[in-house]
Amino acid sequence: MKIKVYKDKEQVADEFSKYLFDYASERDITHIALSGGSTPKIVFDKLASDYADKMDWQKIHFYWGDERCVPPTDNDSNYKMTAEHLLSKIDIPSENIHRIKGEKVPVYEADRYSAVLKENLPEINAIPQFDLVILGMGDDGHTASIFPHEIHLWDSQRLCEVATHPDSGQNRVSITGKLINNAKSVVFLVTGASKASKITEIIGRQKDFEKYPATLVRPTSGRLLWFLDDSAAKGIA
Ligand code: 6PG
Repeated sequence: MKIKVYKDKEQVADEFSKYLFDYASERDITHIALSGGSTPKIVFDKLASDYADKMDWQKIHFYWGDERCVPPTDNDSNYKMTAEHLLSKIDIPSENIHRIKGEKVPVYEADRYSAVLKENLPEINAIPQFDLVILGMGDDGHTASIFPHEIHLWDSQRLCEVATHPDSGQNRVSITGKLINNAKSVVFLVTGASKASKITEIIGRQKDFEKYPATLVRPTSGRLLWFLDDSAAKGIA
């Protein structure tokens, strides 16, 4: 596990974009699971502004680690956010974009998306393998859409599960722990003071760290990177 701390989210976006460019440049094809929420927006803006003509997008396939069960036109949609901040600004083949259909019946979509992953990803350890899984972390220590009140979903034998947001009750389709921990590399992008207490507990393995799904991120490859800003890292710096 490596922890990289930068002064602010702009520098996190800069440094992660460089990391992604170098990582993808080493490969013939790179299968990437994207995170949702708000943190990736600035990273996607940076990729769109500085790497649109540099990155060979033909060699990149995008998937999502989780999606809110809403139509792709809804402001809550992770796909919509990604399309607005990145996909609409780069020349990537549409067949390289594998979105979770949030508008479908969640339990069927979890099955359908599991089949999409099996079809498109190489299988290592009898499990589909992403080259890179990008994760965020909630103030409650959740990651992807595996929340503390449903932490059992992490150990599901299925590749994708239907989850429920603890406050809104909104359904989510999320990849599970077996897929995340089978990835070649996993990167956390976590910025802002509201994340600092969970970062301190999880990285310090203190207090209630075992209750937080983000603690369970332990790729068998050993390649786990945290990109943090000073605010999120204030308890560990
Ligand atoms: C989602 C995410 C989720 C997100 C965290 C952090 O769909 O909401 O994938 O896991 O990464 O909730 O969200 P913020 O970046 O908005 O703080």
